[in-house]
Amino acid sequence: MTDLTIALSKGRILKDTLPLLAQAGIEPLEDISKSRKLIFETNQPGVRLLVIRTTDVPVYVQQGAADLGVSGKDVLVENGAFNLYEPLDLNIARCRLAVAGKSPECLQKSRPRVATKYVNIARRWFAEKGQQVDIIKLYGSMELGPLVGLSDIIVDLVDTGNTLRANGLQPLEDIMEISSRLVVNQAAMKTKHAEIGKLVDQLAAAVEAAK
Ligand code: ATP
Ligand code: PRP
Repeated sequence: MTDLTIALSKGRILKDTLPLLAQAGIEPLEDISKSRKLIFETNQPGVRLLVIRTTDVPVYVQQGAADLGVSGKDVLVENGAFNLYEPLDLNIARCRLAVAGKSPECLQKSRPRVATKYVNIARRWFAEKGQQVDIIKLYGSMELGPLVGLSDIIVDLVDTGNTLRANGLQPLEDIMEISSRLVVNQAAMKTKHAEIGKLVDQLAAAVEAAK
């Protein structure tokens, strides 16, 4: 079989990706969660897995260091999924990107401060609404922003809403639905068309079976 390198997002996406890959016949030869290694061989000779941060997955695939990858839609939209095919919604790590704050009045301020790691999405969202905002870039724990007066509102991922509730915040506006996507390097799609096409079909079947 032609060599295939698949870049996987570590963390919560990895946990949900491995069963889909297993259904498609690809299983790592060792327990990824118990290893500090970054490259894993699989039961399919020539197929190997890279385990990296989700924000880095599109970069590896765009550059051709991986043929395929699994990445959150939030990351793809925020960073721009240039030169990538996105053939499959894997229907995992589902959540939504939302504006949140202590109360709806927070949105009424003339120029609210928005804490987020999604600066591009947030800038676009408020520009389209014609609302002037000041964006404050953070790298995590956005929910803290309004509690300590760093920001008036946040743009962050919401799933159960538990994190917002635990911090006295509420969702105010939904921006977009998020799930993880399979992304493919455009050159690899041509040179390894048969292998990648087969894997996409197998993963699509696994996604359907999981519904
Ligand atoms: P990094 O590893 O770069 O610091 P991170 O800490 O945000 O990223 P995770 O929290 O594992 O990593 O999130 C990775 C991806 O999982 C997100 O980009 C998003 O697509 C999805 N995700 C994050 N939070 C949730 C959630 N609560 N429910 C479902 N999916 C989520
Ligand atoms: C994510 C996200 C929210 C939370 C939302 O954080 O940034 O804080 O999940 O999920 P909920 O609505 O079910 O509470 P995560 O747990 O990944 O922690 P992080 O801050 O390390 O990214």
